[in-house]
Amino acid sequence: MRHFLRDDDLSPDEQREVLELAARLKADRYAERPLAGPRAVAILLDKPTLRTQLSFAVGVSELGGYPMLVDGRLAQIGVRETVADTARVLGRQVAAVVWRTFDQSRIEEMAAHAGVPVVNALTDQFHPCQVLADLLTLAEHRGGPAGVAGLPGRTLAYLGDGANNMAHSYLLGGATAGLHVRVGTPAERSPRPEIVARAEEIAALTGGSVVVTSSVQEAVAGADAVATDTWVSMGDATAAEEAAALFAPYRLDARVLALAAPGAVVLHCLPAYRGNEVTADVLDGPQSVVFDEAENRLHAQKALLVWLLGRLS
Ligand code: NVA
Repeated sequence: MRHFLRDDDLSPDEQREVLELAARLKADRYAERPLAGPRAVAILLDKPTLRTQLSFAVGVSELGGYPMLVDGRLAQIGVRETVADTARVLGRQVAAVVWRTFDQSRIEEMAAHAGVPVVNALTDQFHPCQVLADLLTLAEHRGGPAGVAGLPGRTLAYLGDGANNMAHSYLLGGATAGLHVRVGTPAERSPRPEIVARAEEIAALTGGSVVVTSSVQEAVAGADAVATDTWVSMGDATAAEEAAALFAPYRLDARVLALAAPGAVVLHCLPAYRGNEVTADVLDGPQSVVFDEAENRLHAQKALLVWLLGRLS
């Protein structure tokens, strides 16, 4: 039984396999029907969502299944009953569980008791499905004729909150893909040291590398992709003014983008706050691929589900 709780739950070879399948499913959307029946997939949402709800609901439907959407405010998982009891109930009736929630320990407990594959649709610590979509997008735009196989050796810079879920997932998922991952963030918002160490360990195997720096110049110079994210993540209690003071030097504007490689792409998981972490001219400009990225959530997650369901034993 395999789960996808964090980016490094897929080995480099497995990640490549999922991304290649995602590219194939993008070209032929109904090629795989492992949920035909329809079998249900529970999609549990404890935090706000648009892309995640949409892409998993559409994806499960296209795989022949039934997406059972559960509003976390109604289910109150861990409040009305334990995560473990919820997992046991779900596992008797659905083919897989997809969960957007708070602390990583919750999804780990779900995976320990569900008896079906569990997928992380964002926690406080990781957003691994988003990074699969970002890697597919990067492969399409900067992978050259090799596509997914062209990812190793590319450089991805991330600017902003280095301690949030996107930063951690870029580190782990990017290193797994053989990318040079550079995180530009103020020292007080550095990624967790154990995640940096794990990313370095993976990068040593894949030929990638990891840099965490407070210098925007060092992070972005020559990069093939520049990514950013909201300054205040869901569930983060940091006040907006405090975040603005901290992260304004890391705003992705035209001057910063000009430091990247010619033709570098701009990534953002969305929702975007124009004028905060990214300027409107950059987000809406010719180098932005954010709506390809949003669409690729669908293809990447379908491939992931097909892959996980194919490994039940
Ligand atoms: N870091 C953001 C990602 C949103 C998709 C958050 O957790 O709110």
